[in-house]
Amino acid sequence: MRVIVTGAAGFIGSHVAEALLERGDAVLGIDEVNEYYDPRQKEANFALLRKHSKFSFLKLDIRDAPTLTAAFIEFKPEKVIHLAARAGVRPSIEQPRLYYEVNVLGTLNVLEAMRAAHVNDLVAASSSSVYGSRNPTAGAFKEDDRVDTPISPYAASKKAMEELCHAYHELHDLNITLLRFFTVYGPRGRPDMALYKFLDAVHHDEPITVYGDGSTARDYTYIADITAGVLAAVDKPFPYEVINLGNDHPVRMDEVLKTIERVAKKAPRIVREPPHPADVPYTCADLAKAKRLLNYAPKTKLADGIAALNEWLFTAERLLDSSQHKAL
Ligand SMILES: NC(=O)c1ccc[n+]([C@@H]2O[C@H](COP(=O)([O-])OP(=O)(O)OC[C@H]3O[C@@H](n4cnc5c(N)ncnc54)[C@H](O)[C@@H]3O)[C@@H](O)[C@H]2O)c1
Repeated sequence: MRVIVTGAAGFIGSHVAEALLERGDAVLGIDEVNEYYDPRQKEANFALLRKHSKFSFLKLDIRDAPTLTAAFIEFKPEKVIHLAARAGVRPSIEQPRLYYEVNVLGTLNVLEAMRAAHVNDLVAASSSSVYGSRNPTAGAFKEDDRVDTPISPYAASKKAMEELCHAYHELHDLNITLLRFFTVYGPRGRPDMALYKFLDAVHHDEPITVYGDGSTARDYTYIADITAGVLAAVDKPFPYEVINLGNDHPVRMDEVLKTIERVAKKAPRIVREPPHPADVPYTCADLAKAKRLLNYAPKTKLADGIAALNEWLFTAERLLDSSQHKAL
């Protein structure tokens, strides 16, 4: 199968592209390799993918619609996995226009490129952040819950791209599955995300900034479980579905900090800050639909996943410190 993966140099994209290549699919990765975090981490991801003969790569901004469309027409994919996005919640407050340009107009360009290249099947990344601010008494988040109260430009941009996808499904008969990811973590993870930042800080004897009193909780989902869910969605197209990919097991921040301490064998030094207005206090995926439609069943316990992230982090640091990286 021929698959285009946007955001292939990023965290989730590199894992998804690698899994496709390992099972024999041909992958064109498209990524602008921006500097939202250290691009050497993305170059290292790219180096892993380049070992596969069926991998090709195009360094491209998805906002460049004509070049994107030409790439789709030339590669002739059967499937598209759209993961490229500006993905940070807090930075979206400072750069809302950029988030809309990439996450909404960029998605529009992907949809138009699919039409031009006569590709019908799209799997695209949405986010648990579309569910907005809820507390634990609200229970697990279901795909048909109302999601019209986002609390960050990032969340609003993801909701907007979901709606655009629905319009393209209705008008142009595209098969589209939107996956709402819940706090994905693991090797090759984003350096702006809490688990990465915490482990890194503990090992460097730096303080950890914790927003709130430790009672916030997240449904942390390990990257291998997410990758399995994305591939299941690619292999089983639906006319239009929104599906949660989470872990169904929210963990409180104070519990996360204890796990970090056990894994790193060192107590974190904690600096408390008031809750951040763009951070949701609680997330929990209802996975009934993912199980029913995709046979999705996450397996990884948080302690095991944090241990894997910890191990990777220090290998990655060694890589980043060396000058082994080739420019793209
Ligand atoms: N990691 C999570 O916990 C999480 C949770 C919910 C949703 N998501 C979504 O999953 C997707 C992947 O996220 P990730 O965590 O791997 O982030 P990431 O930042 O590691 O990957 C995104 C990739 O997209 C690329 N990109 C950004 N703007 C681009 C542009 N204009 N043109 C081309 N490439 C561009 C970046 O260079 C990066 O490599 C995103 O759509 C994100 O919103 C992630």
